[in-house]
Amino acid sequence: MTAAVSRTGTRVERLPLSRFTTLGVGGEAEVWFVESPEGLAEAMERPYRVLGGGSNLVVSDAGVPERVIRLSGPLAERDLTPDPALSTPECVVTGWVGGGVPLPGLVRQLQKLGLSGLEGTVGIPAQVGGAVWMNAGTRYGEMFDGLHTVEIVTPEGTRQVTPDELPWGYRQSGIPRNHVVTRVRLSLTVSTPGAVLARMDLADQARKGQPKMKTPGCAFKNPGGVSAGKLIDDAGLKGTRVGGALIAPEHANFIVNLGGATAADVHALLDIIRARVGVPLELEYELWPGQGEP
Ligand code: FAD
Ligand code: EPU
Repeated sequence: MTAAVSRTGTRVERLPLSRFTTLGVGGEAEVWFVESPEGLAEAMERPYRVLGGGSNLVVSDAGVPERVIRLSGPLAERDLTPDPALSTPECVVTGWVGGGVPLPGLVRQLQKLGLSGLEGTVGIPAQVGGAVWMNAGTRYGEMFDGLHTVEIVTPEGTRQVTPDELPWGYRQSGIPRNHVVTRVRLSLTVSTPGAVLARMDLADQARKGQPKMKTPGCAFKNPGGVSAGKLIDDAGLKGTRVGGALIAPEHANFIVNLGGATAADVHALLDIIRARVGVPLELEYELWPGQGEP
């Protein structure tokens, strides 16, 4: 299918999802470049999935049959103007930041403005919506450190919630799958560009040992505060290769694409890790389709 325009003016195109994932793997799907609430409602009339920065996804080589929603246009724009009714000299509550905004650029912009709250997420190649959905973070801070309001859209309607209404925690927001984070307002502490930069540098330092190749980040969550990477390393699995996928020699919780990797290669490595590491590991990646799905 070439690009088409839907009833609400939404661009719809059949595209390889490998273009949208940091692993560089994934077959075709119908991608809906949604720019408005009306477009989102229309896209949700049939089964759908939500795509953010594609930085936590392992997508099947056959693609997925559902519509894939990609927040675009105004849903990928930001208004960082302080809300005078909610801001104080110490704390800024911003206007709306779209779920489709790339997180790295936002973090840099906040640093230049001397606003503190999200600098611990530096280096996470997500979109704001995906980072909120996962509560992405590092030991230096996470998304929920800087949120004031989250707007969530489902086929049933739209609601705005505050973080204390969600059961968020390590790598989870408590927002159910396919509830779309369309936009957020940020709550940030007034600081200085230099102080924010110093905290960003600390978080950046912690990444020095991570591989620079195509990857969806860490494969498994850290069980009970222990590094899953250390457990996989201790099992002697660094450098294990299946097809074009490799357990990174730099950090064992990263699987990288050497070029030409398939989703099946990555799944095979995940199975090897589960079989060889002595403790149960919870997957951090999201598999499209999920295990047990067609
Ligand atoms: P995607 O990968 O596109 O999707 C992931 C999930 O989020 C899917 O379920 C998807 O449906 C859902 N989703 C996406 N957008 C929305 C939305 N708008 N509304 C609702 N649901 C949505 N993670 C960390 O936590 N800490 C790190 O330090 C870290 N480092 C990384 C380093 C590298 C090099 C890479 C490649 C990844 C890293 N990650 C890290 C993993 C990844 O960036 C996070 O899991 C991130 O939250 C994924 O966001 P995304 O926008 O890319 O979402
Ligand atoms: N370690 C090893 N071998 C390895 C990997 C790590 O021995 O192969 C050891 C390190 O030497 C260190 C300890 O394990 O002593 C912790 O390693 P690291 O500092 O790399 O942190 P991590 O717990 O492995 C977590 C996050 C990363 C985040 C970094 C930096 C998880 C699953 N991982 O890694 O997040 O970037 O801290 O804050 O929570 C992600 O979630 O995708 C991700 C990349």
